[in-house]
Amino acid sequence: MPKTILISGSNRGIGQSIAKQLLADGYQLSLGVRDLYQSKESSFDCSQVLYHRYDALDPTSALAWVNATVKQWGGIDGLIHCAGILRSTPLLFADGEELDLNTLWNVNLMGPWWLTRAAWKPLCSSGQGRIQVFVSMSGKRVKGRMTGYSVSKFALMALCQSMRNEGWERGIRVTALCPSWVNTDMANGQSHISRDAMTQPDDLAMLSSNLLTLPNTAVPFELALNCSLEI
Ligand SMILES: NC(=O)c1ccc[n+]([C@@H]2O[C@H](COP(=O)([O-])OP(=O)(O)OC[C@H]3O[C@@H](n4cnc5c(N)ncnc54)[C@H](OP(=O)(O)O)[C@@H]3O)[C@@H](O)[C@H]2O)c1
Repeated sequence: MPKTILISGSNRGIGQSIAKQLLADGYQLSLGVRDLYQSKESSFDCSQVLYHRYDALDPTSALAWVNATVKQWGGIDGLIHCAGILRSTPLLFADGEELDLNTLWNVNLMGPWWLTRAAWKPLCSSGQGRIQVFVSMSGKRVKGRMTGYSVSKFALMALCQSMRNEGWERGIRVTALCPSWVNTDMANGQSHISRDAMTQPDDLAMLSSNLLTLPNTAVPFELALNCSLEI
């Protein structure tokens, strides 16, 4: 029986590359997307894929997505959090920019939190549940003027540690993936580094795929991936 993996943020960027790779690997995929119509236009036309509405700002959509997946495939073996947003909200944010901070917090932290909570029971039942979280190098060090983004990603790292600690005895293994710039829409407007010099989403998809093959005794908790030297 193929394993079932949920992927958020899978209609473009890193999540889309991972979905393509895992489909080729033979997994059953449950893809949570904000715009079902748009996603189906460019969809993987395949009986191995379930699409469901998922908006990180709407916790009820997380539970509905998980329930629909369990109903369709019978369980959940892995959850890959790729949904996320970037805002360049600085330390001394302007009046009104606090709205960006709320959105960063709710999408980048509370989204994965609600979704993990919804999928926890089936992941535990798997006995070898896997959670991969796309954090960022911005969850490990603060650089530039992206304070709001970094704060949300540091908090996400804390969530990852908590998931690892509380899931360990139930066979859940968590990996926090921390790339610097990746060649996706999110990196639009970054003129200091060329697209070719960024980490490529297909390479992250290979990593994600390899991580899923590892036994409970060999899954790394954290992978830091720099595309350029930082000292
Ligand atoms: N690209 C980088 O340089 C980089 C570096 C380090 C870490 N990361 C992290 O890696 C993850 C994936 O990034 P990416 O580069 O693939 O970004 P991306 O190309 O901008 O794609 C972001 C994905 O997140 C989804 N999303 C955004 N807001 C959402 C919401 N409220 N509910 C559900 N889905 C939502 C988007 O869906 P829609 O299409 O509906 O908008 C899209 O599928 C993010 O967490 C990001 O912070 C990225």
